Amino acid sequence: MSRPLRIALITDIHGNLPALESVLTHLASQSIDQIVQLGDAVSGPLWPAETLARLQALNAQHVLGNHDLAVLNPLMAALNPGDAHARKVLDEAQLAFIGTWPKSVLLPQGGFAFHACPRAIDLYLLEQANADQARLRPMAEISAELQDPSCMAARWIACGHSHVQRTVQLPDGRLVINAGSVGLQAYTEPATDLYPAHTHAMGSPHARYSVIEATDSSLTVTQHAVAYDWQAASHRAAAMGRADWARALLTGHGFA
Ligand SMILES: [Fe+2]
Repeated sequence: MSRPLRIALITDIHGNLPALESVLTHLASQSIDQIVQLGDAVSGPLWPAETLARLQALNAQHVLGNHDLAVLNPLMAALNPGDAHARKVLDEAQLAFIGTWPKSVLLPQGGFAFHACPRAIDLYLLEQANADQARLRPMAEISAELQDPSCMAARWIACGHSHVQRTVQLPDGRLVINAGSVGLQAYTEPATDLYPAHTHAMGSPHARYSVIEATDSSLTVTQHAVAYDWQAASHRAAAMGRADWARALLTGHGFA
């Protein structure tokens, strides 16, 4: 049998350069054929410019996230401190680079990837955010989100956004992978028009990413939790005045 295709899925880096470096080192020994970065790369108080410089030097396919979209727009960026900070420290070439990222990509072996949900760049695909913690949505709701032709034609679908690492098989056999967040393992969102206040927390500070190994007859997903210098990231957040981030980076538990 031929060797499987190996695709590394990294997402929601949120400017956490030491987490990204540890993930790239971890995946370097795995004969990865392609790296796909699924968005929300820079928003937050950590190292947005340094993180984007690392991504500019990386041979990877990039996808736009909701915070990336906000960083590109001065009016939108001003609404969120993390987006505003990233916009302030990125140079014009870096903003232009983000502006080239598509909202979705087709990938080999029947893959299709986007940041959040096909219907909107800031909706959860796999989570029902109506509680203190992220719960898996009913399968019927997830399937209903994945009815457009690109999703229907896919064998496997990859996303990020919720920072909750999961692999879900739909009743029709399609596999949906949330790669987990490289850079921020917990956050609390206040109530919005879309969702009530909610916390998503992985429960440990390790950097998450996923690898899909695809052959013509099988799909295997490995979901990694990688050690990195989370104390350095936490100290950076604290120095930037973000005690909420500092705690979440150090523990992987929610801000509340
Ligand atoms: Fe997002």
